[in-house]
Amino acid sequence: MRKMIVAGNWKMNKTNTEAVEIVSKLNELIADVKGVEVIIGPPFTALSDVIKVAGKVKVAAQNMHWEEKGAFTGEVSPIMFHDLGVEYVILGHSERRAYFGETNEMINKKIKSALAHGLKPILCVGEKLEDRENGNTENVVEDHIKGGLEGISKEEFANVVIAYEPVWAIGTGKTATPEQAEEVHAFIRKLLTELFDAEIAENTSILYGGSVKPANSKELISKENIDGGLVGGASLKAEDFSIIVKSVL
Ligand code: 13P
Repeated sequence: MRKMIVAGNWKMNKTNTEAVEIVSKLNELIADVKGVEVIIGPPFTALSDVIKVAGKVKVAAQNMHWEEKGAFTGEVSPIMFHDLGVEYVILGHSERRAYFGETNEMINKKIKSALAHGLKPILCVGEKLEDRENGNTENVVEDHIKGGLEGISKEEFANVVIAYEPVWAIGTGKTATPEQAEEVHAFIRKLLTELFDAEIAENTSILYGGSVKPANSKELISKENIDGGLVGGASLKAEDFSIIVKSVL
């Protein structure tokens, strides 16, 4: 049975003080929730204090360098996250690809390094509007999946989560319809069957991201191949995020 997961990607939002407040409140709101893994990815500056109040919430970093240490000004390494108690790391987000020049090759190095250091990668994949309009959605998703996972063994892949985030739906209020999302999720699962095997594909959590909010989460997550959400804007309010978490149940 695959895990249902609702993860919040806070991007470059919230101070340490605000982050601690929100996660403490979230913990109260989801105290009775069982059967769904809840993850919050605050900015690096809040990781340490958020982990202290995280309770049942798991904590993710939003990016990571692949090296353990060295002369890489401004970067943060897997051993630093692991030492803090960070469990997940979001990798290959479309904003990293678009604004910081991340390539499949870099993302692949980060995934391998995260796995080697006991962190679980959440690999983000997804097409731009022009790709969808040109009928290239599957090609782009396949390129992101194959490029990101190159050289990763079945055993290692068991700790990877996939997030399908169509770029045109991120922060735009335009959500993919449950049918559009389900179509790509089913395609990803088929691809994972080819790359690994049917059992592994069946057990992989594939999250949907892109304007997920309390009003649409239930419909999306109820689709067969959608195993939860990666939520941006709506994860910044404990109340809204807790409604999305509960919509999985
Ligand atoms: P929004 O939910 O704000 O559209 O962001 C989605 C996202 O990029 C999560 O990683």
